[in-house]
Amino acid sequence: MIFAANLKCNHTRASFKIYAEILNKTIGVKCDDIIVFPPSVAFLEKENNFIQGAQNFYPCVNGAFTGELGKEHLDEFGIKCVLIGHSERRALGDEEFIKAKFDFAKEHGYKIVFCIGENLDTKNSGKTLEFLKKQLEIIDLNYERLIIAYEPIYSIGTGVSAQSTDIAKVLEFLASLTKAPLLYGGSVNENNIKEILSVNHCGGVLIGSAALKVENFIKLIKG
Ligand code: 13P
Repeated sequence: MIFAANLKCNHTRASFKIYAEILNKTIGVKCDDIIVFPPSVAFLEKENNFIQGAQNFYPCVNGAFTGELGKEHLDEFGIKCVLIGHSERRALGDEEFIKAKFDFAKEHGYKIVFCIGENLDTKNSGKTLEFLKKQLEIIDLNYERLIIAYEPIYSIGTGVSAQSTDIAKVLEFLASLTKAPLLYGGSVNENNIKEILSVNHCGGVLIGSAALKVENFIKLIKG
């Protein structure tokens, strides 16, 4: 199972250092199935037992892109894993860059956690699968370092995860399109993680709020 934590715009350099120290100690040995996406100013240079990923990047090595992070900056921290397509970034206008980001990350061999998910209107109009298929049309579903995270927008940050029957339907559909591991994200917490992980085709979780405290994240990993 893959356990990924998206810390979003939380944690400072100082607090993430402590977070990582505790997580490293708990994990003990290098583990590719635990991924943490800290804010970029908190990236750690030292080797960790978990995979450190970038919440965002610009599809360039370097250049005249004010305020952006290029490959050169990720390289400095040994970062080889990126999150692409998170709904919170799509809402900021990332949509047009998603394909460029995916192609760039694939070209450079990054592990890609690609997020998709529908809003409540789409769900209520019964168009979920059609919508998700469209979100996946622009990427290479056979890319060997691809992980897909299904994160329904209506569930993110609400404290209420999607129904496991709905998650099952979506994961079944996604599994018919790709062999990539499939994660679920959206209000995963200690009360629902067991049920979510037992959904057919579920290969792990992408956790926001419930992973902000390292002790909680560890509890979720340990099950
Ligand atoms: P929450 O777990 O806070 O709902 O966030 C999920 C998420 O967006 C992870 O990327």
